[in-house]
Parts: sequence; C-alpha cells; structure tokens
Amino acid sequence: MDFVYIKDVSKYSEKEITIKGWLYNKRSSGKIHFLLIRDGTGIIQSVAVKGEISEEEFQMCDKLTQESSIIVSGVVREDDRSPEGYELSIKHIDIVHISEPYPITKKEHGVSFLMDHRHLWLRSKKQHAILRIRAEAIKAIRDFFDNRGFTLIDTPILTPSACEGTTTLFETDYFGEKAYLTQSGQLYNEATCMAFGKVYCFGPTFRAEKSKTRRHVTEFWQVEPEIAYADLEDIMGWAENLIIYIIERVLEKRKDDLKTIERDTKLLENIKSPFPRITYTEAVDILNKKGEKFKWGGDFGASEEMIISESFDKPVHVTLFPSSIKAFYMKSSPEDEKLALGVDILAPEGYGEIVGGGQREDNLEILEKRIKEHNLPRKAFEWYLDLRRYGSVPHAGFGLGLDRTITWICGIHHIRESIPFPRLLDRVYP
Ligand code: 4AD
Ligand code: MG
Repeated sequence: MDFVYIKDVSKYSEKEITIKGWLYNKRSSGKIHFLLIRDGTGIIQSVAVKGEISEEEFQMCDKLTQESSIIVSGVVREDDRSPEGYELSIKHIDIVHISEPYPITKKEHGVSFLMDHRHLWLRSKKQHAILRIRAEAIKAIRDFFDNRGFTLIDTPILTPSACEGTTTLFETDYFGEKAYLTQSGQLYNEATCMAFGKVYCFGPTFRAEKSKTRRHVTEFWQVEPEIAYADLEDIMGWAENLIIYIIERVLEKRKDDLKTIERDTKLLENIKSPFPRITYTEAVDILNKKGEKFKWGGDFGASEEMIISESFDKPVHVTLFPSSIKAFYMKSSPEDEKLALGVDILAPEGYGEIVGGGQREDNLEILEKRIKEHNLPRKAFEWYLDLRRYGSVPHAGFGLGLDRTITWICGIHHIRESIPFPRLLDRVYP
C-alpha cells in the first residue's frame, strides 16, 4: 500500500492519504479522539470523530496505548492551531500492534533509567532531533572534504600501534598477538596522504578513558584530515572553515530540530571567521589572571578549558603546547624546541576541546628518538618510520571529535545524548 511520510503532508492538502506510524500521545473525550502520530519524519495530530468512522474503529481507539503501531487513512486539512500546520481527519484506522505499557511516559525519568532504555528513548522528540542534527553534521563533513579535493580513505579499527599514548588502549587478542582498538586514524592517514595528497578518514575511535566526565565517551567518532605539504597554519585554517561549514549547514537544514531542543541559535549564528588565536602560554596567563594557580607545563583539564573558552564567544585556537604533554609524533617549533606545533580548538560556552591536531615530525632520526623516549615498541612503528625514509615531506592534520561537536551545537549538558548508543566508563548496555 502506498503511504505518505508526515514530513510531506503539506503536498496533500484536502487529499486522502495513508500514514504508517506509532501513537505518540492520545487525548480523548466521549465523541472524539485526538491521536498524535509519529512516523520518524514528523508528528501529526489526527482526529477520529464518532460517526465519521465506523463504530468498531472508533471503539478500537480506546484500546490504543502509547507507541502502539497503527496505519491511518484520512484527509489532510490545513489547520493553524496544530503545530505542524496540518491535521488528519481520520477515515480508517488499522492496528498493527498494541504496545505493552510503555516505560517512557510524560513524567520525569532519571538519567540512568533513560539510558537503560536508550533503545526506546531515541523515539522521544528531543533525542530524535539531536540525532537528526548529528546525521546532518556527518553529511556536511563529508561534503566539505569531498568538494575540496580530499579522498576518503578508511583506516583500520584493529591496529598494532598506539597513536595517542598507551594508557587509554583497549587491548584485544589477535590470534595470539596483541592488537588494539584504534585511538585515531592519524598514523595511517600520514601514509595515505603521501599517496593521495589530501585525505580524510571518518569513523569510530576508542579510548579506555578512566574519566567519568560529561565530555568523555569510550567510543567516539572522529573526522581526521591529513594533508601533505601542509603546516600548522594551514590546518588551523582548514579546521576553522570546517567548523563554520558544519554550523551553517545545521542552521540551514535543521532549524526545526534546533527549535525542538530549544537551542539558542544566535550563539551559533555568531560563529564566523576569524576565530581568536592564542598560544598555550597566553592561555596559562588567562587562567592565572582569573585566579587559577596554574603552572606552565601542565595539561588543561575540563575546568581549565572551560575557563579559557569562556573568555571568547567563538571557538578559540590554542597553539604551541609544551612538547612534553603532547603525543610523540608532534613536530617541535623551530624557534623553541620545548614547544610543539600543535593546536587544540576549544568550543565556546564551556564545551572544551573539539579539535586536536598539528604538524607532524617528518625527520627520521628525531622520530626514532621520540618513539624511544615514549617507550613505544619500535617494531609496531617500522612501517610508520618508512614514511620518513621514502620521500618525507612536511605534513599536518587534525581530528575533530564529532560527538563533542554535536554536544556543543545542540547545547546539551552531556555527551551521552549526542551519540545513538553511548559507550561510557560504566555502560555498554544497551
Ligand atoms: O586530541 P586528540 O586526542 O587527537 C588525536 O587523536 C589526533 N591523532 C587527531 C589527528 O590529528 N588526526 O583527539 C581529537 C578529538 C578531540 O579534540 C576531541 O574532540 C575528541 O577527539 N575526543 C573525544 N571525544 C569524546 N570522548 C573522548 N574520550 C575523546 N577523546 C578525544
Ligand atoms: Mg587532544
């Protein structure tokens, strides 16, 4: 049977259509049932009036519970009072399945209850809107790179080499050998950019983070571009333009969803070039001026990032970190060996780091030394060192954390709502 998605009902004014969906909510009086029906694309108020449908079907409406699946035919009527601008005058109703009492009701539920029912919670208006915004952002990211000469090259999820330090590795047994879930596709991107020029990978990455914060998940999505013959300055520009592109796209295409989640879009409309740029040393000054006793050389945690980013109403680039707190592959500044040519971008409103990247060490001897200093197993990195043996060039790249970016764009409190099925320190269910 042909049917219409709710998002398209405006094309069918005064026509009879069929909708396949679920009962979102119901209000009834003796002579009339107001059924809110959702189908994944929208919600429409549908009205069953006693006498206008068969008595048997009218009685059936009494039995309908929340989330019962139904197929409804009726005439589309323009109606200013209904939120979507249209209403359905029901002529027929078929029940596909009467739902058992639905656990998520209009009353307030605790977070842990909702997370246990994440597979059902996704049907709720706000969660639904957030994940549509996420899908739009993914499309925007793909379009951004695809339209600018980048080739999408997938990097492996199982890997022998640690990219971001050995303390957050998920280890697995690979037929008697040790393998890890990837923390980042970067090292492989460095290989593929030497073959393709401009590349990116986009997929899930993993960190066995022991931190239980509202910004950490153990499985998160990263988009990671890598560019041959690029330096730190170049990739700061790429990252800034990418962020602006994602925001513009979401503002253009997901207005309704932003409204559903009550996001203050003025704050997003303000995200335009240029973003402020400060060095790590200047960031430390900001902290100390604001009364934090922060020593140069330490790494910023959530609260420091919050304080720094709150000084700006746009994302801020922070560059030139102490090499000692950054990954083994970061190139040192030619002006000061102690400083790394790296950048973090901190989102405004206290959302913290959404981008990490920089210029890579391209000299074989220095990189060999670094691998040793970081106690990394040389054997697993032999292939990576080859990239410095065969036509090494300056190159740079970054990783943008999708889930943190969505958390910020949606203005939500916790990263767990930015991803369909979050993996947290204390949760792999459902
Ligand atoms: O700063 P990170 O660790 O950088 C890298 O992994 C580089 N290898 C990327 C590259 O240059 N190709 O991580 C990049 C971003 C962070 O800025 C953050 O947005 C996100 O990934 N991220 C996390 N998001 C959620 N939960 C976690 N546990 C995250 N760890 C990092
Ligand atoms: Mg980082």
